[in-house]
Amino acid sequence: MDKTQRSPHSLGDLERFINRNILAVQPYAPINPPSVLEQESGIAQEQIIKLDGNENPYAPSARVKEVIANFPDYNIYPDPDHRILRKRIAEYTGLSADHIVPGSGADELIDLVFRLFIETDDEVITMPPTFGMYEFDAQIAGGTIIEVARKDDFSLDTEKILAAITPKTKVIICASPNNPTGDLIPQDDLVKILETKIPTIIDEAYYEFADSSVSKLISDHENLIVLRSFSKWAGLAGLRVGYGLMSPALASMLFVIKQPYNVNAAGQRAAEESLEDKDFLLQSVQKIVSERERLAPLLKATNFLEPYPSNANFILCKVIKGDAKNISNALRKRGVFIRYFDNPRLQNHIRISIGTPEQSKKLLKVLEEVGPS
Ligand SMILES: Cc1ncc(COP(=O)(O)O)c(C=O)c1O
Repeated sequence: MDKTQRSPHSLGDLERFINRNILAVQPYAPINPPSVLEQESGIAQEQIIKLDGNENPYAPSARVKEVIANFPDYNIYPDPDHRILRKRIAEYTGLSADHIVPGSGADELIDLVFRLFIETDDEVITMPPTFGMYEFDAQIAGGTIIEVARKDDFSLDTEKILAAITPKTKVIICASPNNPTGDLIPQDDLVKILETKIPTIIDEAYYEFADSSVSKLISDHENLIVLRSFSKWAGLAGLRVGYGLMSPALASMLFVIKQPYNVNAAGQRAAEESLEDKDFLLQSVQKIVSERERLAPLLKATNFLEPYPSNANFILCKVIKGDAKNISNALRKRGVFIRYFDNPRLQNHIRISIGTPEQSKKLLKVLEEVGPS
């Protein structure tokens, strides 16, 4: 069923009524949960090693499970102003609550910020290879993506970014750490970009794994918007909670256009409790970071993968012998799910999310079986 959900259907007479911007949208290719992977692969869920979604292999805080199970008010709409959650995020980030806009994942905030700025044919600058959601959301908003490719080592080409700005440029968006390359935006480069006054989104969905943020620049740069997520460090991907940090003026604009109940009660409570239990969760982050550093040289030792340094919870590898798609498919058949990239922006690479040490063990064993001799 899932394969056809995003396949084009003939619209017949209805086509002329459909929003022109939306008719041209290329569907996003989402990842699937273990239950779907089980159906597709015939491998039992318990056997599946899921390293394709940059999810947290560890469970959320036990306190989160408890507060969600015992929450008394699911029959009541959640707080549209997210008062408690914003207070907790303010304590966590050091920015006051009027700088904070919670959303249904960082994904919702990308969409919301784009809708705030972009009108038909406006331009959004991205730096591929990067997160596919930017192109998808820009198209829905009617924008045109202007790609400024990263250099061969995946660092940003700041001069080219500045040269790509036109009167139609409404947003510049960059992930830091970037998905899938794992690198951080250097602060000097960001300041040059911010000085153009163009609204600039820095997507810090993986912030906790890098422990490096640009959020301090918000006080001096009203055009900077930083996005964060509870999906990765707090293990709440399924509950969909993220937030944006920005000037109070921009935050109030987003409050005007967002759906009032955009973060559901369970997600809101879970995020609040995660922040209360952050020391425990940051220990899981540490485990993931240590595992990343342990795994990288072992991937290199396969002799067919060239891992790049990463500040996130995944490792991008260039496939130096063999074919990324074949390797990914062969792993899949053995129950190990990873992402491969083979497109003009990123040829013959795989991205492996960091799992538990046991999951790495299985990954390495299977890589040894399927790797080119
Ligand atoms: C760079 C980046 N931003 C945002 C997201 C999505 O975050 P969320 O789950 O909070 O919507 C992802 C998910 O993989 C990502 O890689």
